[in-house]
Amino acid sequence: MSVLPIVQWPDPRLMEICAPVAAITPEIETLAAEMLETMYAAPGRGLAGPQVGAMIRMFVMDAGWKEGKPDPLVCINPMLQEVGEERVSNSEGCLSIPGVSADVSRPSQVQMVWTGLNGARFVQSFEGFGAVCVQHELDHLDGVVTFDHLDADTRAALEAVYQEQAE
Ligand code: NI
Repeated sequence: MSVLPIVQWPDPRLMEICAPVAAITPEIETLAAEMLETMYAAPGRGLAGPQVGAMIRMFVMDAGWKEGKPDPLVCINPMLQEVGEERVSNSEGCLSIPGVSADVSRPSQVQMVWTGLNGARFVQSFEGFGAVCVQHELDHLDGVVTFDHLDADTRAALEAVYQEQAE
């Protein structure tokens, strides 16, 4: 097991739509374990396949570990099943866009269905930071990053900050 290098924006792999996971192979199991290790080491609360160059519909998350409530999830072929009507804006960071946070408006409650590493189907409702996290990671599987939620002026300003600190 090893900590994987994290793909940094604007790498084109962060703008691609990922393919479904066809079968849960030993390689997928190893990748999931390494993605969790990489996420905790970063340290972050979510990490999606394309962020480590794996162009498949899988992400890992643990919304509560920094508050001492660890709950590691490996989500394979995740999909939103229900989306609440209320929206809320949160400041979101991203391990692929280090040093820059963006205010993103999203539904405050979602229900997600996914396949776990054991092949079982899971359905769970998320609110608060968990809801932010699952939607942020789902975005990555569709080639969407926080910048893509912003209006043109806000995006340009944040991109400038990002480019400046990257130099
Ligand atoms: Ni991210």
